[in-house]
Amino acid sequence: MKLLVTGGAGFIGSNFVSYVLANTDDEVVVLDKLTYAGRRENLAAHEGDPRFSFIHGAIEDRETVDRAIAGCDAIVNFAAESHVDRSIDEPDAFIQTDIFGTQVLLEASRAVDLPRYLQISTDEVYGSIDEGTFTEESPIDPSSPYSASKAGGDLLVQAYHRTYGTPALITRASNNYGPFHYPEKLIPLCILNAFAGDKLPVYGDGMQVRNWLYVEDHCSGIYTALTRGEVGEVYNIGGPDECPNIDVVKRIVELTGCDESLIEFVTDRPGHDVRYSLSSEKIRGLGWQAQTSFDEGLERTVQWYRDNEAWWSPIRSGDYLEYYKRQYGHALNT
Ligand SMILES: NC(=O)c1ccc[n+]([C@@H]2O[C@H](COP(=O)([O-])OP(=O)(O)OC[C@H]3O[C@@H](n4cnc5c(N)ncnc54)[C@H](O)[C@@H]3O)[C@@H](O)[C@H]2O)c1
Repeated sequence: MKLLVTGGAGFIGSNFVSYVLANTDDEVVVLDKLTYAGRRENLAAHEGDPRFSFIHGAIEDRETVDRAIAGCDAIVNFAAESHVDRSIDEPDAFIQTDIFGTQVLLEASRAVDLPRYLQISTDEVYGSIDEGTFTEESPIDPSSPYSASKAGGDLLVQAYHRTYGTPALITRASNNYGPFHYPEKLIPLCILNAFAGDKLPVYGDGMQVRNWLYVEDHCSGIYTALTRGEVGEVYNIGGPDECPNIDVVKRIVELTGCDESLIEFVTDRPGHDVRYSLSSEKIRGLGWQAQTSFDEGLERTVQWYRDNEAWWSPIRSGDYLEYYKRQYGHALNT
């Protein structure tokens, strides 16, 4: 197959490109706008590979999408504004990319009768669950502008399938972690702050529970759904372990050897979902299984950040420092 991977320069997209090039004979075309979260360096290992090419552009730009889609067999759409906190401050870009951009991709797919379209979505569209697990039948009930924009994208995919027969499907994954994760998100933020002796900010009482999924397991799940899933269907991809945020941060304290007194409880995020939990039974029926426990994945992730200062040190500067100060009310040590 020749895959158009939109948002392929971001965290999960770049891991997915590596997964595909390492494990299959497929070709990959990445289309990415290179926002603050998209980095060409994430794809450096593939530059020069004849099965890899890169187009700089936005998914909401139909002309660019038409050029990128030519000769492709499938779209895997990772492109999104992805950070809940930023969606609370400035929701516009989320609507533009996550909803309108998705619709442009669907229209372009329809125009060329693309054989397959996979929308990468999130468990956050289901909202929060105190007990039990979300299945693919659970109602959509998003809490943040981010999750609402992702839900909007999902509903368009479903509508295109029902209305036009677009051969589209959706995966919804739980919280990812691993290499190339932009340090605004909890795990890489705390790892890098721990390295620098900065405070480790924890929202509210830190008892928000997430269902952590190592990014490589997510990528194998996506490829499973892409190649073996049924069109019109949704597949949840959940991690093997649930863990409250405060325990995640304490584990990072242990792994980095920093002082536990760096942990700082800060004002909770508005509309913060208390717990996500996904049933992955349906995708397990396609032969997928998460391979990496949270303990093992977190250890690998801390080691990756230890070994890749050249990747993250340019990020912890400029815009990121300003964002951090705005968000947490104080500057970082750099
Ligand atoms: N990170 C998670 O825990 C998680 C969990 C489940 C689902 N998801 C979903 O997976 C996808 C990827 O998430 P991520 O964490 O890798 O995000 P990310 O922010 O690291 O990457 C997003 C990528 O999309 C690109 N992009 C943004 N707007 C674009 C546009 N208009 N046109 C083209 N490219 C654009 C960015 O440049 C970046 O490369 C998203 O759709 C997200 O909703 C993420």
